[in-house]
Amino acid sequence: MSVDSEIAIDVRGLTKFFGAKKVVDNFTLQVARGHIQGFLGPNGSGKTTTIRMICGLLTPDSGEGRCLGYDIRRQQEEIKRYVGYMTQGFSLYRDLTIRENLEFVARVYGLEAPEDAAQAALERLGLVSRADQLAGELSGGWKQRLALGACILPGPSLLLLDEPTAGVDPKARRDFWDEIHHLATQGLTVLVSTHYMDEAERCHQIAYIANGRLLASGTIPEIIASANLSTWVVTGEGLVRSAAN
Ligand SMILES: Nc1ncnc2c1ncn2[C@@H]1O[C@H](COP(=O)(O)OP(=O)(O)OP(=O)(O)O)[C@@H](O)[C@H]1O
Ligand SMILES: [Mg+2]
Repeated sequence: MSVDSEIAIDVRGLTKFFGAKKVVDNFTLQVARGHIQGFLGPNGSGKTTTIRMICGLLTPDSGEGRCLGYDIRRQQEEIKRYVGYMTQGFSLYRDLTIRENLEFVARVYGLEAPEDAAQAALERLGLVSRADQLAGELSGGWKQRLALGACILPGPSLLLLDEPTAGVDPKARRDFWDEIHHLATQGLTVLVSTHYMDEAERCHQIAYIANGRLLASGTIPEIIASANLSTWVVTGEGLVRSAAN
């Protein structure tokens, strides 16, 4: 198996304890290549822990799986090479400039011409005029843009984005999602955690976890159908008065 695998994420029964607390409980998920998978759940429900197990940064206590065809327990180095992971907090160097950060990432990944790769990323991100600004001085939206740029610079096959739009304004969020869809059309698979329902609607599939357990998974219409909810629309005069009674 290799990065050519048609199923980008294929994990079964992932379980993780921190001390006596089971924070991820029997988590199973498959994501097809080129799909955008949304990952929802309240604070502390186990999203970040699951993402870290999927990319081999954290070893599950039980369960198994493959990421881009590589074994999550035994082939962590291969997974790292082909996965772009945007962590929940800003993880680039605040006291390096934008250009220096991008060149650093290019060198860590052993790209042949790091300066050229960084320059290409700057142009793609619309960051050329800010190239010499310190990353720590950027606004939230530009920090997020830079972090996404650093993630895709080494040419990954899978992006794991952990709450990438937290604290970002609506226009920057929209632009970000347009970019995610553009990347998916080029064959990248994306798993993105979010608390925003409008973002969930832009995913091909979503998974919802609470207390470490997967409660719902599928396309939005599938999830709505499985919830078996009925909706009534009531029209007419004096509705506010009737509702109050
Ligand atoms: N390294 C750790 N050691 C001990 N407990 C941890 C560790 N990492 C996470 N936890 C606990 O595991 C649970 C799940 O945390 P996790 O960060 O995966 O949740 P999350 O869904 O990503 O939450 P959020 O939406 O706030 O980012 C929480 O109760 C958290 O306190
Ligand atoms: Mg988290």
